[in-house]
Amino acid sequence: MILSIESSCDDSAIAITEIATKKLLFHKKISQEIEHSVYGGVVPELAARLHAKALPKILEQCKPYFDKLKAIAVTSSPGLAVTLVEGVTMAKAIALALNIPLIGVNHLVGHIYSLFIEKETQFPLTVLLVSGGHTQVMEVESLENIKTVAKSMDDSFGESFDKVAKMMGLGYPGGPLIQELAKDGDRLKYNFTVPLHQSPKIAFSYSGLKNAVRLAVEAAGDDKEEYKHIAASFEHIATKHLTMKLKKYFKTNPPKHFAIVGGASANLYLRAQIEQLLDPYKAELLLSELQYCSDNAAMIGRVAIEMYEQKNFSTLDELNVVPKSTP
Ligand code: KG4
Ligand code: ZN
Repeated sequence: MILSIESSCDDSAIAITEIATKKLLFHKKISQEIEHSVYGGVVPELAARLHAKALPKILEQCKPYFDKLKAIAVTSSPGLAVTLVEGVTMAKAIALALNIPLIGVNHLVGHIYSLFIEKETQFPLTVLLVSGGHTQVMEVESLENIKTVAKSMDDSFGESFDKVAKMMGLGYPGGPLIQELAKDGDRLKYNFTVPLHQSPKIAFSYSGLKNAVRLAVEAAGDDKEEYKHIAASFEHIATKHLTMKLKKYFKTNPPKHFAIVGGASANLYLRAQIEQLLDPYKAELLLSELQYCSDNAAMIGRVAIEMYEQKNFSTLDELNVVPKSTP
């Protein structure tokens, strides 16, 4: 079995996965959404302190599995330096105490493998990753061959939802809150400009849209009824930006198997729009189970099985936290 730890942002999670069967035997996650909610976003130092409390609590429940563990896996990049350190330190301590190998997992690769929890992998795959930290399109041939073909130049898709929710005083995380508010709104009421619509570049940008929304929120003042139309129009344009760029990309790279992963892949409007976009290509759409879209340790354990089989281990000295990295 492999014990895997995730602490790259505001979720403390530990999983136990059986290597031979890929079965997830244990998974527990403690989220910090309530604690960060008052700030409208994740406060790194607060997150680190909460991980320091939550991780040992979850680990306590894993003790019955300790004598069957063959390796310890942990998210070591990318993420918040102060929170990654909490998981990596714990992983090193367990690896040392049990004298078993240590596996450092890339969080973005983890999101890709969230598609394959308790399943076999399926490649090649075109993947859209939409999370709080990233918005990127990747061509995935295998674990070792992941090519990023487009990414955000500034804010990420999920982050823009968080920031719009903060402007409206809704709380954190913004994605589900904006999605709920947008449900009854008029998606066409606010004619926000689609980011980079005149640019031939296949890249993403959300900072301009965010500022346009800010002006609309300010103009609406206390008229909360208006917020739902702003939320609906924002969600529409934020999604249209993704589908327009993907459409352009598909002209030269028609998709066969396409996946959406990451916390924001839970967004229902996005899922529906991508389904429509894929229809003419008759491409298959792969999605993670809703519970594994957001950060979790099961996806880290799933990557770790592959790395274990390749004996892709790190020594205690080698494994370091790398806050910024690509897959
Ligand atoms: O993957 P994740 O849990 O953490 C990172 O790796 O960043 O993604 C969290 C992000 C947050 O920005 C959150 O607002 C967004 O995913 N999110 C959503 C939805 N659910 C979560 N964004 C849009 N619509 C949703 N339904
Ligand atoms: Zn994530």
